[in-house]
Amino acid sequence: SFSSTSARNAIKNVTVIGGGLMGSGIAQVAAQTGHNVTLVDVSSDILKKSQENIAVSLTRVAKKLYKDKPADGEKFINDSKSRLKIDTDASSAVKDADLVVEAIVENLEIKHKLFRTLDEAAPSKTIFASNTSSLGIGDIASVTKRTDRFGGLHFFNPVPVMKLLEVVRTHDTSEETYQAMMEWGKAMGKVCITCKDTPGFVVNRLLVPYIAEAIRMYERGDASARDIDTAMKLGAGYPMGPLELADYVGHDTSHFIIEGWHKKFPDNPLFVPNESVKKLIQEGKLGVKTGEGFYKYKK
Ligand code: NAI
Repeated sequence: SFSSTSARNAIKNVTVIGGGLMGSGIAQVAAQTGHNVTLVDVSSDILKKSQENIAVSLTRVAKKLYKDKPADGEKFINDSKSRLKIDTDASSAVKDADLVVEAIVENLEIKHKLFRTLDEAAPSKTIFASNTSSLGIGDIASVTKRTDRFGGLHFFNPVPVMKLLEVVRTHDTSEETYQAMMEWGKAMGKVCITCKDTPGFVVNRLLVPYIAEAIRMYERGDASARDIDTAMKLGAGYPMGPLELADYVGHDTSHFIIEGWHKKFPDNPLFVPNESVKKLIQEGKLGVKTGEGFYKYKK
């Protein structure tokens, strides 16, 4: 029956590789929701930083969840922390893993190197997933011998706050693997959507060209940056305008994504990088994080 299948396949032990912005968030939420988590990065110094960031974020979550019950909040923090281990050796960290979520640097060669190693080290039951934003899941999985037990689990920043999880199936992802990923997503408290392994999945496939088109409008001088943003906020009900959003995401990040797609799909006009963004990057104006992009920000 379905319930016995799901019980058998329930994901309990999760290894997260990459303790940066995304990996820390994924590890935190997994620990919060009762999973045994091992967080892996290349050095103990980085992992110490990850643990500090997770501790700050857990405190924030506890304050919200247990507003009038500080003792319960304290227990929530301690229980979550007790479920979270750190390790600098990826091979040993996947030995008991039901699921590995990769959130390392966005570089296909480096991800391949990691997954070759993990494929050797992990038991055959272990499901592999990548949190990549812009690379193909099938392209990443291709170096492993478990392409049927490989899928995409694409989270959004900040992971503890954003409700969405995109669950990505490749041609090879098995039904069992897909079901296990969906169930884990729900257990993580996320709202899961399913999509195929196409560039940008759903959210970024729509958002990246939309932002680029808004920037092209600004480049042509059809309207000011402020007016484009005001128009989309008040006329389309978006919480942020497209240029504000571009500044918030960071021009280096979105340019890296669209440049990658443009190289891979040169004929798609939606994936043409913006000249004004290249100029902003050259000037070091990456957006909110550097104090200036299309707008100026107080640092
Ligand atoms: P980050 O730069 O904050 O963190 C990456 C971490 O991976 C670093 O701590 C680095 O030391 C570690 N790392 C690099 N190579 C490693 C290896 N071989 N083994 C173990 N650790 C290694 O990057 P971020 O923003 O967390 O992104 C990670 C992944 O998540 C990327 O694939 C990105 O496309 C994806 N992503 C990013 C989002 C974002 O808003 N930043 C949103 C959704 C997905």
